[in-house]
Amino acid sequence: MAKLGSTLHRFDSLTSTNDFARELAARGTEEGTIVIARRQTAGRGRQGRRWSSPEGSGLYLSVILRPALSPARSSIIALAAGVAVAETLALDYGLTPDIKWPNDVLSGGRKISGILVESAIEKDLLQYAILGIGVNLMQEEFPEEIRDSATSILIESGRRVAPEDFLKPLLERLERWYRACMSRPEEVRARWEELSSYGRGRRVRIMSGDERVEATTRGLHESGALIIELESGEVREIVSGEITLRPL
Ligand code: BTN
Repeated sequence: MAKLGSTLHRFDSLTSTNDFARELAARGTEEGTIVIARRQTAGRGRQGRRWSSPEGSGLYLSVILRPALSPARSSIIALAAGVAVAETLALDYGLTPDIKWPNDVLSGGRKISGILVESAIEKDLLQYAILGIGVNLMQEEFPEEIRDSATSILIESGRRVAPEDFLKPLLERLERWYRACMSRPEEVRARWEELSSYGRGRRVRIMSGDERVEATTRGLHESGALIIELESGEVREIVSGEITLRPL
């Protein structure tokens, strides 16, 4: 595998760095190639949400990956990316981040980074995955709908961090944790559980369609699913995308 970031495509503006990276990947571009933009006009998040991407205020990054993993095992990549972001915020920027399952990175209870993995699967084989990472760096305020739930490094620490400054240490950690996804996935899960207050023993409310249940978290399953124990004692695995989880 080429080093992550050894080929870098940099733009002033894109609809979404994930869109551009996906076009490259579909044409066979090699693993590790990254795409960044100073702003995105249609940045997107998980579950159809949009990702606010004003010029120069955030890191908007997509990485082309071609992991040797089955689609069923691939959700570990998003967990590993959450670990890499949280470690960078903690070790390089002195924050005390938390990871909300599956991979929202929070600071002071507000979201500072989001991760969106989009995979191309053919005949039950993973062709490639686009790992999209957004980190709020220098925003001082946010659009109305996320005003109370979002934060940035500037708000949290008073430091002005340029996208390129954050990119370098992040890529080093991503490289390490991405490789571990294939060779030592149990280490990725263990580190995630260490960094996340949602790993074990956290009381949460799970919302899926009309169903609302209260449960306690019991760590990550090998597949990356979150294991929860209901009040009845029943143990379930929950898969990202299907549910919303709130702290209690
Ligand atoms: C989420 O928390 O819902 C995921 C947000 C992911 C945002 C990043 S920014 C770079 C890449 N391009 C996108 O359009 N989205 C991801």
